[in-house]
Parts: sequence; C-alpha cells; structure tokens
Amino acid sequence: MIQTIATTPYTDQKMGTAGLRRKSKVVLQPNYIENFMQSIFNVIGNLRNKTFVVGGDGRFYNDKAIQKIIKMAAANGVAKLIIGQNGFMSTPAGSNVIRKNKADGGFILSASHNPGGENGDFGIKYSNASGGQIPSSVSDKIYQQTLSLKEYKICDIPDIDLSKPGVQDVCGMKIEVIDPVKDYVDMMQNIFDFDALKKLFQSGFTMRFDAMNAVTGPYALKIFEEILGAPKGSVVNAVPLQDFGGLHPDPNMVYAKELVDFMYSEHAADFGAANDGDGDRNMILGKKFFVTPSDSLAILTDNFSLIPAYKSGIYGVAKSAATSTAVKRVAEAHAIGYYEVPTGWKYFVNLMDSKRITFCGEESFGTGSSHIREKDGIWAVLFWLSIIAATGKSVEQITREHWQKYGRSYYVRFDFEGVDTDLADKLMEDLESKLPMLQGKTFSGYTVSDAGAFVYNDPVDGSSTKNGLIIRFTDGSRIVYRLSGTGSSGATIRVYLERFSKTNLDDDPLKMLTEIFKIAMSISEIPERTGKHQADVIT
Ligand code: G1P
Ligand code: ZN
Repeated sequence: MIQTIATTPYTDQKMGTAGLRRKSKVVLQPNYIENFMQSIFNVIGNLRNKTFVVGGDGRFYNDKAIQKIIKMAAANGVAKLIIGQNGFMSTPAGSNVIRKNKADGGFILSASHNPGGENGDFGIKYSNASGGQIPSSVSDKIYQQTLSLKEYKICDIPDIDLSKPGVQDVCGMKIEVIDPVKDYVDMMQNIFDFDALKKLFQSGFTMRFDAMNAVTGPYALKIFEEILGAPKGSVVNAVPLQDFGGLHPDPNMVYAKELVDFMYSEHAADFGAANDGDGDRNMILGKKFFVTPSDSLAILTDNFSLIPAYKSGIYGVAKSAATSTAVKRVAEAHAIGYYEVPTGWKYFVNLMDSKRITFCGEESFGTGSSHIREKDGIWAVLFWLSIIAATGKSVEQITREHWQKYGRSYYVRFDFEGVDTDLADKLMEDLESKLPMLQGKTFSGYTVSDAGAFVYNDPVDGSSTKNGLIIRFTDGSRIVYRLSGTGSSGATIRVYLERFSKTNLDDDPLKMLTEIFKIAMSISEIPERTGKHQADVIT
C-alpha cells in the first residue's frame, strides 16, 4: 500500500513567525502539503517509535490535509498519531496533548487569526516534543529540504473516519482519536480555582465570550457555560465553521467588532473576551473598556499570587521587544526575572524550559504561561475572571488601579498592509542604516537615547536573532518597526509606538502618541515610499 511518488520542489515553503502560512489557493496546488510534510519527516528522520499529535482549527481544507498527513505519516513509518476528534484541536490544547503524552511533536493546521475559506489562508504549525514551535535552526533545515525534495511517501488507502474517539490501525500505524476538549479542561481546573469562579457566576456576574466561529467554541461552552455556570448564550459564535462565517477571527478592536459594539452598548456584560481562529490569542474587555494586551500581561503578572498554580511564586516574565514595557515595571517591583525576545512565541520556549520565566506575552493579543509552550486564549480569560472573583473589582477598576500603582504605557500599533515586498525590505534596510546617526538628536522635544536593530542572544542555546528596529527616547518612549512574518502575500510594515506617563493616566492613546507617530513616519519615510499616509489597521 505504500507508494513513493515523484514530485518537484516548491520554492516558497519557508516558515514565518509561526509555521507555514499561505493562501488556500496556493496550498491547493498539487503536492503542496505532501512536499512540505515529507520535508519535515525527512528532517526528523528515524520515525519508528515516534508519536505525533495532529489537529486544527477546522478551517477550509483542514479535513483534507489531515487525511494526507495520516497517510503520509503511516507510509513514513510513524508509530502513532493522536488526533483530535473530527480533526479539531486548538493550538494550546495541542501543546498540552503533546506534553501530556510525551509525544515527539505535533502539527496544528491553522493560519491562526488570518481569515479562512477557499479565498482565505491555510497554515501548518510544527511543534517539537516541548509542545512549542520549532526553533529557526530546525525550520531552516526543513526549508532547505523543501528545495531539493524529489519524492514523497504515502499510503494508498481510503480516508480514515475521525468522528469517534478510539484507537485504530492504519497502514501499520496506530491512530488514537481523542476528545480535544477534555484534557484541556482538566489542565485549566488544575491551574485555577473553579469553585471561586462558579461563585462569581452564581452572584449574577455576566460575560460574553466570542469564539468568532472558530475552534474555541466547544472549549468555551464546556468551561464557561457548562462547568462554571455562566448563563446560556454567554458564548457566542460558538460553532467552528470552515470559513469562520466570513469573520476575520482576529480578536482585536477592528475585527471583533460585534463583541466590541456589544461591550460598548447599554446592554454590555460585566466582562467580554474573544479568542482567535486557533484559540491562542485573547482580547479582554470590560464595560466600555478595552485592556491592551501589553497592560493585560502586566496586570496578570502583578496578580500571580491570586491563582492557585502560581501562588507559591513565579520565576520571571518575558515579552516580545515590540510589546510595551508595562510588564517590566511589574517585574522590577516583584524582583523577578525579566526578558525581551523577538516576536514569535517560539522564542519564549527556551526561557520556560530552563525555568527562567513562568509568564510571557506579546502585544498581538497573546498571553500565556509555562503550563504549555504556546499562548493560551482561554487561560488568559480564566485568569482575568479569577482576579475579578478574588478582588470583587471590575476590569476597568483593576486596570486603573494598576496604572495608579505603576504608571501607564500608552501604546498603539499601526499596520501598513499590502506593501510591495522589495520596497518594504529596502525601506527597512535604509532605515536600519540611518538609525545609528540619530543618537542624541531631538525631534519635537523627544531626544533619542539609542537606536538600532533589536538583536536577541538566547541565553539557553546561544543562538542570535535579529528582529525589528527600535528607537528609544530619553523619556522612555519607543518606536519599534518590524516586517510581519505571518502574512500570506505582500509585506506588512508594523510600527509600534509607546509613551509612558506616571501621572497622566486618563488620556486618549492616539492623542498621546500623535507627535511620536509623526516622528516615526518622518524618520522611516513610510508615507513617501509606500504612498500610505494612514495605517490600514490600528490596534
Ligand atoms: C504576528 C504577531 C506576533 C505573533 C504571531 C503569531 O506575527 O505580531 O506577535 O507571535 O503573529 O500569532 P507577525 O505577523 O508580526 O510576524
Ligand atoms: Zn492564533
């Protein structure tokens, strides 16, 4: 039954910030998935006795791709696959299943927060035995392999039924279909005080969780409505759909519009939250109140002692360089370790494995802890609910009191999308070369303290990564420029702005950052070079 099929390489299978992400139409090309998967299997080598976890966010082509992966894994001699029922598994749940079963790695089929469907995006994230995505040193090897691939192996068998939990034998390989929700719920129950959360809902507390027609619907229904007793209907858009019902499952003020409108209306719940396509991102809202992800990381870190799993202490905290420095002040106050890494969750993995950090987060709506090696949307929601349950305070009160204690980092990200790739590369190159000359210069009252590329030297494996450019000012304000590594076509230039105030706590972020935005534009020449005078997305 094992066939060896000749193929020709694709030259575009290089992984980005989080795995391979392409337009669905690209992935539908003959042998596209097969080439990519065979390249991974070749790089892993010796697959006998190896177990992998497979699942996805249910988007278009998930079902087909999973069947291909099963048949190829069997043909390549993999011992066992653990697969989510009907092929579903969120990214955080997958990380947990890998770790719990001591599997050798796993594949989550998702393009995360990118739209799905035939005209949307598709993706594959590959994790190793840590439950976290592979480091660049491995993805580089896989990319090299894709460029010279000549053949792939596949079992010629009918599609496998994944609709019922249980074990079956496929072409000499074992398949275990599991309920993707159960293990995840058990893990959350071991971290948080579910009784305290039940009491919160018994007291009449209301929430709305928007699963955005993506993978977290079944997890959220189970945890919030069934177990914790949130009123029926608290979880909306709870059925995962292949095209996410046309939604762009990116939980931010722009794309989670339905939730934002509700939370800013007269009927708002006490608490609002949304997750992205594969369940690793989260957005937190109070009544007519939005918590920036950077602030959320700082607030969760400051409140670690309220959570049973972290009560006895945390190792430290890390953030991506682009994320605001709010959490740095918390780390200093608690005298815990503090790290800044490049953008992408994979850079946190070594820090968690070596017990340097417990919490980590990114401005892009990602927060998590060392319970797994991916960010975790529902975990963040449960953490916020736990703070509310323990303090009796609202989201807004908790955040405002945090600012009073630590000061406030006004923070906004501007995305310039659909930029020509060569133009964007050249813009960044020219910008980098002029940064050293800016030191000591003053722009509209802001004096540059230092400027240059952000270079991260991993304290664990010694690898060095360059990611983005940073201009720091003497008052603590910062401008960060980066090119996105998750898009499926063209380039996106991200500009992240931050300004700190110890006393002015109730101002409008865009207003507070007006001057710095002008400085960021004039130094980089983005408007002149791209023709864009405004960002396409502001978050
Ligand atoms: C984006 C976010 C980044 C996140 C990644 C995966 O990557 O900015 O923080 O880790 O998605 O969710 P980018 O497109 O900026 O490379
Ligand atoms: Zn995601």
